[in-house]
Amino acid sequence: MGWVCSRRLVGASQSAYSLSRSDGEEETLQELSELTTSAGAQVVGSILQRSPDPDPATLVGRGKVREISAGAKGVKADSVIFDHDLTPTQLRNLEQVLDLRVIDRTQLILDIFARRARTREGQLQVELAQLNYLLPRLGGRGTLLSRLGGGIGTRGPGEQQLEFDRRRIRARIRRLREAIERVRSQRALHRAHRQERHCLTVALVGYTNAGKSTLFNALTGSKVATSSRLFATLDPTVRALELESRRAVLLSDTVGFIRKLPPHLVAAFRATLEELEDASLLLHVTDASHPEREPQDAAVRSLLGSLGLAATPCLHVWNKADLLDPAEARRLAAGDSDVVVSALKGDGLEALRRRIEEGLQQDPIVEAELELSSSDGEGLALLYRLGTVLSAHLEDRRLLVRARLAASLRERFRARSLAFRETPAGA
Ligand code: GTP
Repeated sequence: MGWVCSRRLVGASQSAYSLSRSDGEEETLQELSELTTSAGAQVVGSILQRSPDPDPATLVGRGKVREISAGAKGVKADSVIFDHDLTPTQLRNLEQVLDLRVIDRTQLILDIFARRARTREGQLQVELAQLNYLLPRLGGRGTLLSRLGGGIGTRGPGEQQLEFDRRRIRARIRRLREAIERVRSQRALHRAHRQERHCLTVALVGYTNAGKSTLFNALTGSKVATSSRLFATLDPTVRALELESRRAVLLSDTVGFIRKLPPHLVAAFRATLEELEDASLLLHVTDASHPEREPQDAAVRSLLGSLGLAATPCLHVWNKADLLDPAEARRLAAGDSDVVVSALKGDGLEALRRRIEEGLQQDPIVEAELELSSSDGEGLALLYRLGTVLSAHLEDRRLLVRARLAASLRERFRARSLAFRETPAGA
């Protein structure tokens, strides 16, 4: 699925909404190049736009369109990639003027996701996100249904054909949603089994290419495809993590985060990220040698916040220590929740295991009485999933629940409860 990658592309970054030079446009453009390479294409040129005054029809101004056109033709590019999301109209207009395939950031990320999805669930989710993206854009050059294996030729489809395509896509979207629901309930079942066996979960999170999969392999001795390409991990992978205390702990590897991840993509990967909700401890992995490590970390923290996970205990794992100056490595290791490792060389892993043990021990089980609004079925379901519900009944349109839960989840449930009272265990 997804577009067959062109050989030659030209990247264009539009930064109309930020005027200053210091806003990191060059870095984002550099990242767009990395993403493009990751999608299997070759970057043959790039253009930066700093217009304060975007043209709503084409996003970039008319002069810039001419510049892109001349630049792209000069290097025989067959596609232009925008580091920005384009509306369906902008996409069509640009393709018409440029006479080239136009791709925006979401489409590029979706394409990479499509190439990396390994499990059935991941593949279904990516296809759903791709079709939802495609539907309003149908008819554009880069979005013919033929790209999805529909067998339509390269000529632009007529209205009748478009309507037929739309109907087919809507039907496929319905089937995909049903299939995803089935897979999700299977996952919930697996999770419930794990919970019954009192397994704790430690989850790896981090910016794409930080080295999560390498660390996952190093800690669990398993073989998950690692790749210098971005997003090698799309589907969560769960393996047993051997710790000295012999506690049953599972380590889960998740999809790499990225700046400017479109919100609907986050939604598309909700099931992937649901894995994180169950985690007792997060390992936030950073490529310590990356010049952009701070904004990358900030992006990860903000995504964790938007997923309601800001309060989950977290160890900051500074990876790729082999590429660091030793003094810098020592400085980074000084923090209470910081560990410096080289997943590739296996350095610092024993210390990391110890810190994981400590981190997990700091999360005792507490007992609490909660009052949830009777319409907060989701809260109750979450409580069933993450804790042990001892009793639950409805009174005055309120759900009164007694439950055991990890102390780290306290704040999350306090925030959504009408009343929250911790009780001595067994009271
Ligand atoms: P996504 O799947 O994109 O989220 O990536 P990831 O965070 O899982 O990264 P992955 O483990 O695939 O590693 C990315 C690249 O970094 C690979 O080329 C690894 O070999 C390299 N890498 C990982 N850990 C280290 C390390 O400790 N030192 C060095 N020098 N390279 C590393």
